[in-house]
Amino acid sequence: LDSAARVAVLRGGGDAGCGGGGDGARILIKGGTVVNAHRAEEADVYIEDGVVVAVRPNIPVGDDNVRVIDATGKYVMPGGIDPHTHLAMEFMGTVTIDDFFSGHAAALAGGTTMHIDFVIPVNGNLTAGLESYKQKAANAAMDYGFHMAITKWNDEVAREMEVMVKEHGINSFKFFMAYKGSLMVTDDLLLQGLQKCKSLGALAMVHAENGDAVAEGQQQMIDLGITGPEGHALSRPPILEGEATARAIRLAKFINTPLYVVHVMSVDAMEEIAKAKREGQKVIGEPVVSGLVLDDSWLWNPDFTIASKYVMSPPIREAGHGKALQAALSSGILQLVGTDHCTFNSTQKAFGSDDFRKIPNGVNGLEERMHIIWDSMVETGKISVTDYVRVTSTECAKIFNIYPRKGAILEGSDADIIILNPERSFVMGAHTHHSRSNTNVYEGRKGKGMVEVTISRGRVVWEDGVLNIAPGSGRYVRMLPFGYIFDGIEKSDAAYRASLRAPVQRGKAAA
Ligand code: URP
Ligand code: ZN
Ligand code: ZN
Ligand code: ZN
Repeated sequence: LDSAARVAVLRGGGDAGCGGGGDGARILIKGGTVVNAHRAEEADVYIEDGVVVAVRPNIPVGDDNVRVIDATGKYVMPGGIDPHTHLAMEFMGTVTIDDFFSGHAAALAGGTTMHIDFVIPVNGNLTAGLESYKQKAANAAMDYGFHMAITKWNDEVAREMEVMVKEHGINSFKFFMAYKGSLMVTDDLLLQGLQKCKSLGALAMVHAENGDAVAEGQQQMIDLGITGPEGHALSRPPILEGEATARAIRLAKFINTPLYVVHVMSVDAMEEIAKAKREGQKVIGEPVVSGLVLDDSWLWNPDFTIASKYVMSPPIREAGHGKALQAALSSGILQLVGTDHCTFNSTQKAFGSDDFRKIPNGVNGLEERMHIIWDSMVETGKISVTDYVRVTSTECAKIFNIYPRKGAILEGSDADIIILNPERSFVMGAHTHHSRSNTNVYEGRKGKGMVEVTISRGRVVWEDGVLNIAPGSGRYVRMLPFGYIFDGIEKSDAAYRASLRAPVQRGKAAA
């Protein structure tokens, strides 16, 4: 059935019991500008049972059971997808303060309708890690997927990776090249992991900082008597991020498998990605909101509570890096925006009040990402509205192989939709946010553009500044391996093998 016919059939269907709340609700969004990554158009959007049924101009209402939302003068866009979060994560001797419920509340209030969180194995065991994260996610209020970290290597881990991909819908694995003594992997492990990822069609992700050098840099700062939050930035400068990024890129090239570099925070790392892309390598770079719009001057603030909230790794850099990362994002060198939402309140941050090495690393952003990117990139003319949708939603859905079910407003897509009013302004801060943290790295930040409505799988969950969400209503989204970025790998492998067999007639001439 074409969309018009489906709408007609549904309208005539006398589908009692629908039209209220819940997944069965019928919603008609009228008069807005519908933006997908491929185009923006004046159109209405008709939703039923959690799915987009029609996108076209002038869809008639025709039924009392259809809730009509007027979007005149507003943008109707796919809900944000955050590729990088840490909810309820055990880290640095504590647990992030946002769990899957408060994190989802924050996300939905900020126009993000799906995220991908990182499962951390339990003592290196992937199955135990997944079990633990399934429990953590029991109170989920929106859709989510999982990446999985690899922290140890043996035959069992390799077997478990296969099980994760084939049975549990995980299609990406993250390797931490930093956090020596806890999550950090060796080059040997990274090589084994890249190989295994390639064979499974799973995307290898790296946290790229040289962890050995970071440990050295930290000791140097302590020896110099620098124990405050500024020591965090000083101990792990951009060259250590550039080095690890270059190393990971070269190892991925050696294995011939795609690579995804998370939280690109410096020009140094970005230039390595740009260079690899110019040479045709399949590398994806993910900047995060904090790296795009903040600078490290906060770390020198004399108030520890203020300074410590900006401690994350890799560090927020000197002014200048952020602008360069924004330019890289607008020109396609970097492809999608995450948050690395990993929140600790001021009491947790105070664990490091006399030693920056003990400040739990992480900043907020899940609630702020969509607004900050709109304000800093679209309002300033750096990117188009279609590119906004691409970098906040579509690209993530494509990379992790859930497009166009997610990341688009097309017939058959999940009804994860936001309505943004470009004329309204926002002010951010801990007093109004939905995160459980008592601090916010964007405290007092003002800007233009307001997500007025968030629809999650066909339910209006955010409207008039009010959240209407239910713990346990979020669904786990399985992600299949061999996403688009793997296209061509087999062919380039074959070409490489053929080049090895080019005849070398050594010695034959003499025979
Ligand atoms: O400081 C950060 N980034 N905390 C979260 C863990 C990570 O490295 O992604
Ligand atoms: Zn129905
Ligand atoms: Zn990281
Ligand atoms: Zn992270």
